[in-house]
Amino acid sequence: MLDIRLLGDSVLRQRAEEVEEIDDDLRQLAEEMFETMYTEEGIGLAAPQVGVPKRLFVMDIREDEAEPQAVVNPVVVEQSGSERGEEGCLSLPGLIGAVERPAKIVIEGLDLDGKPLRIEASDLLARCIQHEIDHLDGILFIDHLSPIKRKMLLSKWKKRLKEESRR
Ligand code: NI
Repeated sequence: MLDIRLLGDSVLRQRAEEVEEIDDDLRQLAEEMFETMYTEEGIGLAAPQVGVPKRLFVMDIREDEAEPQAVVNPVVVEQSGSERGEEGCLSLPGLIGAVERPAKIVIEGLDLDGKPLRIEASDLLARCIQHEIDHLDGILFIDHLSPIKRKMLLSKWKKRLKEESRR
């Protein structure tokens, strides 16, 4: 199990680096990220969330039409529409907010064999992918919220941290 980095950790706020070489170390990392994601009951996990500032994420939205997938060096090549939907994040446990994002996207990247990958996504899959790519750019879902909503969530977060430190 990998440790999940929480809000406040600087690794979550930096731009992750392109993966130069897809090797066994990277595949091992992806495997451990999948395990961590399943244990924590998330649908996506980006490498910076486990302290590795590299452009890699894993996802499994648990729907028949979408297979579990690891994506290296993802780039959004097309996007259209707009949709609001609730998001949470393993790095901000307990917080949920409605985020507006393009409804449909196409991304390109590489799989863990270094083969080119192209994914057309809509609905939850599109949302999950955009949320994970944001992590690679140091962006968290709360950054997309209105200042008031963000403030509300952050005060909830601080309260929660205080309660935990008292335990
Ligand atoms: Ni997240």
